[in-house]
Amino acid sequence: MAARIETLVILGAGGDLTSRLLLPGLASLLASSRGSDLRLIGVDREPVTDAAWKRRVAKAFSGADARLADRVLESSSYLQADVTDPEALRRVLDATTGRAALYFALPPAVTVLACRTLGTLELPDGLVLAVEKPFGTDLKSARDLNRLLQRLVPEEQVFRVDHFLGKSTVLNLIGLRFANRIFEPLLSAQNVAHVEIRIEEELGLEGRAGYYDRAGALVDMIQSHLLLVLALATMEPPATVGSEDLRGAMAQLLRAARPWARDGTASRRGRYTAGTIGRRKLPAYTSEEGVDRTRQTETLAEMTVAIDNWRWAGVPFLLRSGKAIGEPRQEVVFTFRDVPHLPTGFSGPSRQAQLRIGIRPATMSLDLVTNGRDDPFNLEWDVLDAEFGPSELSAYGEVIAELLDGDPTLSVRGDIAEECWRIVAPVLAAWRRDAVPLDTYAAGSRGPSSWR
Ligand code: BG6
Repeated sequence: MAARIETLVILGAGGDLTSRLLLPGLASLLASSRGSDLRLIGVDREPVTDAAWKRRVAKAFSGADARLADRVLESSSYLQADVTDPEALRRVLDATTGRAALYFALPPAVTVLACRTLGTLELPDGLVLAVEKPFGTDLKSARDLNRLLQRLVPEEQVFRVDHFLGKSTVLNLIGLRFANRIFEPLLSAQNVAHVEIRIEEELGLEGRAGYYDRAGALVDMIQSHLLLVLALATMEPPATVGSEDLRGAMAQLLRAARPWARDGTASRRGRYTAGTIGRRKLPAYTSEEGVDRTRQTETLAEMTVAIDNWRWAGVPFLLRSGKAIGEPRQEVVFTFRDVPHLPTGFSGPSRQAQLRIGIRPATMSLDLVTNGRDDPFNLEWDVLDAEFGPSELSAYGEVIAELLDGDPTLSVRGDIAEECWRIVAPVLAAWRRDAVPLDTYAAGSRGPSSWR
């Protein structure tokens, strides 16, 4: 087993990601039964006193288990450093004790510069590099970033963070599939007509134009998160849930995946106009601060994926994700084929049966056709519903826990990140050449009316 991380260094400690996600994630871990001691070092370019940094950490930690959080807080410190400067980065590495992880909570371009600087230094043994998405901006840049990282440390020491892999509801997919006899034999082209994976959100841009306006929904969500969910929902059973078996099975599945239409046109895109969600009024996406109207950024993306393997050949997988959606759904839905022959004399059922696995909320439901109560030959639907309990850790807490264990299982392996770019590339190209119209939908609606 890999040695635990003793020092966690957050590069970009003054940024939004640190305060919004990392520190709260760490707090959720320290409050859980899985928390343990740790030295936390914040690094950024601004001059900040240790006391001011500790106040920031304390704010995020309020509510965490007092003794452990207090100890981590007490030992934490702040270092002012420009991480693209070799001297400064040397000081940062010298400040660590035991096995260390550098968490790049930095804009992607700065992460690349910092990694290049690391390449000029002698690195401590076992150093882990944790990199946030986006991993590159296309297949080529993802490859370049991977090569750069691999020149620094072995792949098991690169932790590409995707918080969807830390969601208990996403991980639930493999428990449900591989620890139950009843589902797995059903999940193949023989029985499944089509599959939908939807991650819709009520949230709009939330002031993230600087990043999102260049990414759009396809890259922001489908390229990263939804394709990982697809892999977990459809991959072959791994022999173990260790990092190489699990990620090997995901990679094998993704290598077989491609856009349904090879030219990327089995896809749709939309952008929200002004509207209301609950009591919140949202301006049109193009009126949000920092948005470049000429960019044609989509806030709703859909693509159909084919999986060219024995199990799934011919089954369409519809992946959809969007922002500012009313009554959002986050789920994986398997729709089953009709039975080969319904005994003559039965009437109904009127639609195909579904297995719905909710990601948010954490639920599951399975449709069963049963004999009608009034007329036993008139079939009826019964639905088996289950709700899953909340997990102890937030998604970021789970990811940080694995990172600190030095276990890369929940990290996106380099080849997987590249496969995800390869799969969406034809769709991005089709959109760039305007082969697919950019539809509009009112914020708070379920999407463009023409899509229903
Ligand atoms: C992030 C995306 O990776 O995931 C955001 O950049 C999105 O745009 C978020 O809102 C969704 O994650 P969660 O955990 O809030 O559902």
